[in-house]
Amino acid sequence: MRRLFKSLQCFLCFGLLASMLASCGKEAAVVPEEPEVQAEETPKITIGFSQLGAESDWRSMNTESMLSTFSAELGYNLIYENGQQKQANQITAIRKFIQQDVDYIVLAPVTETGWDTVLEEAKNAGIPVILMDRRVDVQDEELFTCWIGSDFEVEGRKACEWLHRYAQLQKFSEEDLHIVNIQGTLGATAQLGRTRGLQDAAKLYSWDLLEETTGDFTQTKGKEVMTDLLKKYDTINVVYCENDNEAFGVIEAIEESGRKVGCDLAGGEILVLSFDGVSPIAINDCLEGKIACIAECNPLLGSRVQTIIEELEAGKTPEKFEYVSETLFSAVEDITEVEVDGVSHAVTVLNAENVEKLNKR
Ligand code: AHR
Repeated sequence: MRRLFKSLQCFLCFGLLASMLASCGKEAAVVPEEPEVQAEETPKITIGFSQLGAESDWRSMNTESMLSTFSAELGYNLIYENGQQKQANQITAIRKFIQQDVDYIVLAPVTETGWDTVLEEAKNAGIPVILMDRRVDVQDEELFTCWIGSDFEVEGRKACEWLHRYAQLQKFSEEDLHIVNIQGTLGATAQLGRTRGLQDAAKLYSWDLLEETTGDFTQTKGKEVMTDLLKKYDTINVVYCENDNEAFGVIEAIEESGRKVGCDLAGGEILVLSFDGVSPIAINDCLEGKIACIAECNPLLGSRVQTIIEELEAGKTPEKFEYVSETLFSAVEDITEVEVDGVSHAVTVLNAENVEKLNKR
């Protein structure tokens, strides 16, 4: 709608200019019969995309999904800005998009709070804001058009149900599960939801939640904090990593400390749980049991955002909140489903065949 208005404005301006020239007597003869405005009739859709950073494999795949969907060949002009994990950079990017008068803003916000002012500015400029992946916590939900992403709390609860089922199957006392949580970036929707999922399950099943500390969704920080935690607690037997990159660092730290990762709790191995399941390394680690279970987080959101923009272009109102569907990858073949709030969720038990398919995605 807004774009239609912009095209119309352009057309009217050209018309005005043409008639002004026409009224200037002899000079009117130089006015072309077929005004160049024809070429402007279907201008490219300009999208300002503020990505929060490049901290993980998930993020790289998510960015790639946006860049390949909104290509110039398909009629888009995508302006991509990497926020380098800093909200201030993302706010600057949004202000720049407003100045550039883009048609849409797509925002993947680093954390939830602190967006009211800049989103108000976008709203006043009449630019629709589509939120992708994480959410914003704003006073007025009219400040954004819609959101698409994962239900991070359900992801967390699914991973915890898997652990609960696994402990039961192994006849391993749940009070003897000594867990550390390597959290994601504090204040990010993915961290808040996954942490909540674990805290609730720990209470419900009497798990021993030793400590929660951030690994910032990165391999380096994951390894650093896990190295310290292993020195602090010798009872750790479960590590809940809020993404796969943290899990890679955690596995390195455990192996360097002389302990073993794996599913044999009774045999003294440390069981690792994780989120994402997008990189072949994570999928292979899960196949080998180094990561016992991964709650999938789907990064392929580009085409979903495209559908939203198409709806808006057609004058339709997209769903305010749209969740993507996700599975759970398991190294253990006995768990084929988990239940959360009475809803059954499928579990993909990894084997050589499905791993090959997954790695071709
Ligand atoms: O917000 C999604 C999370 O952010 C992914 O799980 C993680 O890998 C990323 O950095």
